[in-house]
Amino acid sequence: MLEVEEILRQMTLEEKAALCTGASAWTTLAIPRLGVPEMVVSDGPHGLRRVADVHAVGTKSLPATAFPTASCLSATWNRELLREVGAAIAREAIALGVDVVLGPGNNMKRSPLCGRNFEYFSEDPYLAGELAASYIQGVQSQGVGTSLKHYAANNQEYQRLRIDVRVDERTLREIYLTGFEIAVKKGRPWTVMCAYNKVNGTYASEHRYLLQQVLKDEWGFEGLVVSDWGAVVDRVAALEAGLDLAMPGPKARFTQALVEAVRSGRLEEARLDEAVRRILRVVFRAKATPKGGQFDAEAHHALARRAAAEGMVLLKNEGLLPLKNPLRIAVIGRSALHPQFQGGGSSNVNPTRVDIPLEELRRVAGEAQVTYAEGYPEGLAEDPRLIEEAVAQARAAEVALVFVALPPAVESEGYDRPFLGLTPQQEALIQAVSQAQPRTVVVLNTGSAVDMRSWIGGVGAVLQGWLMGQAGAGAIADILFGRINPSGKLAETFPMRLQDTPAYLNFPGENGEVRYGEGIYIGYRYYEAKELPVLFPFGHGLSYTAFRYANLRCPSRFKDTEGLRVAFEVTNTGQVAGKEVVQVYVRDPQSSLPRPPKELKGFAKVALEPGETKTVEVELDYRAFAYYHPGLKDWVAEEGEYEILVGASSADIRLRQTVVLEATRDWPSLLNEESTLREWLQDKRGRKVMEPFLEEMLPQIRAAFGLEEGETFIGMDLMGFLLDMPLRSLLDFQSERLPTSPEVMVRDLLRRVRDGVLVDGEASGEGRRAL
Ligand code: BGC
Repeated sequence: MLEVEEILRQMTLEEKAALCTGASAWTTLAIPRLGVPEMVVSDGPHGLRRVADVHAVGTKSLPATAFPTASCLSATWNRELLREVGAAIAREAIALGVDVVLGPGNNMKRSPLCGRNFEYFSEDPYLAGELAASYIQGVQSQGVGTSLKHYAANNQEYQRLRIDVRVDERTLREIYLTGFEIAVKKGRPWTVMCAYNKVNGTYASEHRYLLQQVLKDEWGFEGLVVSDWGAVVDRVAALEAGLDLAMPGPKARFTQALVEAVRSGRLEEARLDEAVRRILRVVFRAKATPKGGQFDAEAHHALARRAAAEGMVLLKNEGLLPLKNPLRIAVIGRSALHPQFQGGGSSNVNPTRVDIPLEELRRVAGEAQVTYAEGYPEGLAEDPRLIEEAVAQARAAEVALVFVALPPAVESEGYDRPFLGLTPQQEALIQAVSQAQPRTVVVLNTGSAVDMRSWIGGVGAVLQGWLMGQAGAGAIADILFGRINPSGKLAETFPMRLQDTPAYLNFPGENGEVRYGEGIYIGYRYYEAKELPVLFPFGHGLSYTAFRYANLRCPSRFKDTEGLRVAFEVTNTGQVAGKEVVQVYVRDPQSSLPRPPKELKGFAKVALEPGETKTVEVELDYRAFAYYHPGLKDWVAEEGEYEILVGASSADIRLRQTVVLEATRDWPSLLNEESTLREWLQDKRGRKVMEPFLEEMLPQIRAAFGLEEGETFIGMDLMGFLLDMPLRSLLDFQSERLPTSPEVMVRDLLRRVRDGVLVDGEASGEGRRAL
């Protein structure tokens, strides 16, 4: 086999250009004369959609295990489980001849309306990044590649192929890129898939900042960047920006465009070589794993069931669950018989088999009589008779189990959800059933949050079952009957109502643009900052046992570069074994830039027998304390106090401790010609220069405004008035009395700031966090 560099040397310009576009819907170009094989890719992410005919996009795929979708997997908060699922998907890939799995999806859940939220992990970038990294590690541990997607800021389906996301850099870095950054650095995916949309005016596929500067140069991504299917508009611009492989293919005009661009000098051949090198490296890496054989469908079905059980979230339980051997059970709702176990679109798997909730319930219900009523028709249709029938059955039973799933017309890839609630018939059904039968349990098979206001008060329990994969039905039965203790927790906030959601006024945009006006405040960051009540907070999930948190230990001072190790104890104080998701948040009570009230920076899932105690240790690194400073273009962890908050959810903090961060990094001053007096006084170097200057100037300034000592200034506080004026403008008011022009004076002061040497420790003062 020839080395990559040798192959590159022997390739013609046409071959290089052709390799940079797919040869079919799912394969890259093979170049037999140089021993370059084709590479096969398939969706992803929660199971394989391996289309046998590589020239077909949407035909039925080969049977594969439909694992729970990402919103369920993320609610497990279990890194190891994500690795196991990833490894299983990779074994299926090997059996089905797939080299690279097109997943995981790792976009942030900006709005619960995004049609594709079921394919994404979380509203929190740290959680999403950690879980994506684990999934990637799992797949790639078997010698199969992944494609981390859709990079970046693809947070809605509406106009996804052209919408222009307007987002500021701090928000982009802290919220929309961090999940990718963690996944790239920890998971080292072989490929990253760019998004369809534009970001600040440029297609993600042509985005040099995103693809080259951030992903490849800063994060050190060594794999190849592939386009989302059809995301490339200008092939040459895309290649120049760092997009290596355009999919799907073949597309002669793309090849031609690259050839011509090199010939005309518009594109440097070295740039093309770089893309070819990246593609060849991944192709040969993939080929190192021989394909073929069988996968263990039984074992994977069992794993899918275990994963589903860990991801389901018991949202509400007024003592109704686990069921205590009822003799008459009314199972209600179409999705008990026709389970909605996955979402529509490219992730749709042809499952090896599908378990049916009604059958699984009958299996575990023993001698109980289990009736079934459809409750609501398919799709958005309405039929009051189905409600009447359901009510009659519910009344005759000891407990009603209502299964509800949103129809595919409402929740899928390709379009966003038109409303946050269930369908009108489903809401009416739950209301009517729970009125007739107070012992009503609702099982939701939705990919994201739903508005429950119209019925939640009347039901005894709610289990969020997600789009739970082909084996999820058994998991539901196990949880309802207490054979499994639920341990999932929400990776996304369930809001009260759509109007409360952070992006409400800026979703899905207008005139081809969507403005991320809420900035860094998405999910719980927003609800907490606004002090808005939510239906179920981020991190929430009930158990059949109870846990006690105690004895938080961590050093009270630490150096930013060394990070902080936090330890505490968790005890299972109940009667049954269980698993607890423990969450560590960091709060920065005082900062130069506004920050959310708290942010998740660590978590663990702990299995505990009744009465058992375990010590949990969580490492918090520099980034756990840092925000992205758009002026400094860097991550800043400011000196001073932080609070470490350990909780069972974002709203249920059990332990807290204040710690002091010692900053070892010194940041350049950001003062410039436009800086205001306040900024001068807040800047640690600026203040040293400004204070004596101001003392000298103040009498003059007062005089310039015609003020005698003790007089007030046109009914306002003079200092308050001056503080937010640029120093230049302030001086301008008295330019007649100045020795030189305001511009020259400001420039001179700035020079003094730049030349000034700061003595260590001298900086703190009123604005502790002033940089
Ligand atoms: C989706 C991707 C998917 C690709 C290939 C696109 O429409 O956005 O997630 O991997 O199609 O099916």
